[in-house]
Amino acid sequence: MEKIQLNISDVLATVSRADIEALAPEAAKSLAKLTDHSGLGNDFLGWVKLPTSTDEKLLNDIEATAKALREDCEYVVAIGIGGSYLGAKAVIEALGNSFAAYLPGAPKVLFAGQNIGEDYLYELQQLLKGRKFGIIVISKSGTTTEPAIAFRLLKEQLEQQAGKDEARKRIVAITDAKRGALRTLATSEGYKTFVIEDNVGGRFSVLTPVGLLPIAVAGYDIKALVEGAREMEKATLSGKDMSAVTYAMTRNALYRAGKKIEILVNYNPKLHFFGEWWKQLYGESEGKDHKGIFPAAVDNSTDLHSMGQWIQDGERTIFETVISVAEQKYEVRIPSDDDNLDGLNYIAGKRVDEVNKMAELGTKLAHVDGGVPNMQLVVPALTENALGQMIYFFEAACGVSGYLLEVNPFNQPGVEAYKKNMFALLEKPGYEAETAAIKQRLEK
Ligand code: PA5
Repeated sequence: MEKIQLNISDVLATVSRADIEALAPEAAKSLAKLTDHSGLGNDFLGWVKLPTSTDEKLLNDIEATAKALREDCEYVVAIGIGGSYLGAKAVIEALGNSFAAYLPGAPKVLFAGQNIGEDYLYELQQLLKGRKFGIIVISKSGTTTEPAIAFRLLKEQLEQQAGKDEARKRIVAITDAKRGALRTLATSEGYKTFVIEDNVGGRFSVLTPVGLLPIAVAGYDIKALVEGAREMEKATLSGKDMSAVTYAMTRNALYRAGKKIEILVNYNPKLHFFGEWWKQLYGESEGKDHKGIFPAAVDNSTDLHSMGQWIQDGERTIFETVISVAEQKYEVRIPSDDDNLDGLNYIAGKRVDEVNKMAELGTKLAHVDGGVPNMQLVVPALTENALGQMIYFFEAACGVSGYLLEVNPFNQPGVEAYKKNMFALLEKPGYEAETAAIKQRLEK
């Protein structure tokens, strides 16, 4: 299987090879910390050797569970937020048909619990009315508000529609081995469960059952996905492939040169949610201690008609990492037209992807000329294997990059602040003092 490839030559007008190489000793130490566990957050390094340590038995169990859900259900709702949502969503979108929702056939994987949108939940309930559906409820902590609300609503609906016994068979819970409300509920109801290991943080959990079960239900080959990650794990940890480390070094060299924002760019709409997954991975891992590259993402060429102006001409604090997909699945050629009223005959006969690639190249040249350094990650094609490689590449680079930045890449203390205020405002038992304080603040 072809490998993904990193190209950094278009950053060299901003940072030199020497600037990047200056970080090599520190980067080597950072990579070593991921395996010798001597760095910050070392109790959350279960993802580092996860691909090679995932056994066939677990993958077979996930596949069998997915098959049963596929056979039994017209819709399967994956409930989760953050790391318990974005990985599965990213892979399913990247591999799937753009119009899967409108096609007959395989069961549709829907998502809930990733927001608190009342209309979203109402419309989902309406869609599921009278339909055969199942639920995969995913929460590592088992206490997160957004998925808990969605699960309470959909569990009630499923029990009403199918009866409690049948509902039990169509609910799978993925959570901590022992702790949390979801574990307690799953045990008391007798749901099929999968475990998220303690040492794998949410945003690094896509290659655990958290991501693998919804991906398998959607009909994709999770063994090939894990195999792609395995290849990248072996190559990265053995030093045979230094691209993840080079990416981490380059983005840190750019950051130190004043480039504070990284934009992950794609030219394939199927990668929109890969950008969302990447934003969470890097945002939650690096944005702390008042430091960190701000991760943004654009979908081109769509966003060239909106954000393109800012990127070309706005503040010069940005750099781009472009995911370039070499081969498309299908071939569409632009037809010739006798009247040529739209003036497009100069590209008649060309594949749509040739035009897309010229948009990509033209944009890169313009952005580099405009002072926006560019990295490029060339992906042979959107396959399970390539996505597995990409996931491990970005995870490993994130660990190295976080250590280069001298933060703990594996905690997320900042996400608690909004929760404390929300619980105080909702008058959650145990938050009486915070409720009184926040009311006083709002009355001022
Ligand atoms: O990366 C993280 O840890 C978070 O984004 C979590 O995945 C997210 O908050 C959901 O948490 P949980 O799975 O505990 O419901």
